[in-house]
Amino acid sequence: MDYLKIQGPTPLKGNVTISGAKNAALPLIAMTLLSNSSVHIGNIPAVADIRTLLKLLHNLGATFNMQGNSVDVDTRSLTNTKATYDIVKTMRASILVLGPLLARFGHCEVSLPGGCAIGQRPIDLHLKALEQMGAAITIHGGYVRAEAPGGLKGAHIVFDKITVTGTANIIMAAALAKGKTILTNAAREPEVVQLCQVLNNNGVAIEGIGTAELIIHGTDRRLIRIDPFDVIPDRIEAGTYLCAAAITRSTMKVEKVRPDHLESVIGKLIEMGFTFEIDEESITIIPTEMIKAVDIVTQEYPGFPTDMQAQFLALATQAEGTSTIEERLFENRFMHVSELQRLGAEIKLNGHIATVKGPAQLFGADVMATDLRASSALVLAGMIAEGETDVHRIYHLDRGYENLEKKLKAVGADIERLKE
Ligand code: UD1
Repeated sequence: MDYLKIQGPTPLKGNVTISGAKNAALPLIAMTLLSNSSVHIGNIPAVADIRTLLKLLHNLGATFNMQGNSVDVDTRSLTNTKATYDIVKTMRASILVLGPLLARFGHCEVSLPGGCAIGQRPIDLHLKALEQMGAAITIHGGYVRAEAPGGLKGAHIVFDKITVTGTANIIMAAALAKGKTILTNAAREPEVVQLCQVLNNNGVAIEGIGTAELIIHGTDRRLIRIDPFDVIPDRIEAGTYLCAAAITRSTMKVEKVRPDHLESVIGKLIEMGFTFEIDEESITIIPTEMIKAVDIVTQEYPGFPTDMQAQFLALATQAEGTSTIEERLFENRFMHVSELQRLGAEIKLNGHIATVKGPAQLFGADVMATDLRASSALVLAGMIAEGETDVHRIYHLDRGYENLEKKLKAVGADIERLKE
């Protein structure tokens, strides 16, 4: 197993190029199940989660060719519709094949993803919506078995909670359904918006893109031809590097980004005293003498992203005074707190609210990554901790950050990947 050895404290300086968004690429790759031709997707991040989904499609009978950061996916030869436990258990987002497989073939079986480090994460809303579209769903032997032999039918679906992958799943199911589907209380994340835009540009009319109510006009099982396109930049990766600059009090430019996707994150950094130069596709963060304490509540987009919560918690350890960070989306997403405490952070956890007292002097220690974003928070803390920090179990990091240690090294971090 690999781990990262970080020697701190190190200031950073320079430019970081941001990769394509993992959470946009995943539904877009699942979307190739709706196509009657090979689909070329550019700006794909070379991370483990993407390889997992491609492997899943390959197991079902699709072919793909990944060259650098582009992939061609051809699902025409696909006949198997069972997504097995061995893959789904490694990545919950595998559930994204449920909607498109069912819509195209009229039946499929997808392993239930089970629990994960950040909480229970059920898929009841995905299933309820598909039932409303005419699917018969049973759970048997750990699998969701879904059938709609005559195809899915458009319906009016109201999500009683906003779900990102649930929205993507239902959009893809509705794309091949008969008639129109109205999806109320849909997620508005930029990753969902891109899925809608690509479908809309390629023969599936969608109204209300970017709003909480989508109207999807299904093709009645006619597969679509999808023109080549590029995945949008990863706003969470960009936010993580902005936090890396902030915590090390460095000037850094992140390039190939969509600043409009980062408004809530930049807003919080401004509140903490940082200043910015923002261009169309780049953001430069300028450090501050004194980092101010902040109060954060995670919310659905355009609110503050839960995927940036851990990184801001690390940053808050360096702010003057008391910060509070409230996690509203996932019940168990504070596993990194005890690891940050090992480095010397002063954090009190009360249910889903973390209270952070700063600034705290951090000292290097062995710490363990517990989930994807928690891992990057430990790397950030390691870069300002005095001495050596070893971050173990970084397979979590590799799921979603392309070349993290190479990108950080290039801007001056003393960081190395080693084998246990
Ligand atoms: C996606 C992102 C993840 C991010 C999360 C929230 C991908 C691949 N992953 O995860 O990085 O942290 O959005 O922004 O895009 N829920 C239910 N029933 C359901 C579905 C969800 O109760 O059927 C609950 C969840 O337990 C959670 C909340 O709704 O409390 C939001 O979850 P959801 O938006 O579905 O997260 P994911 O799509 O899994």
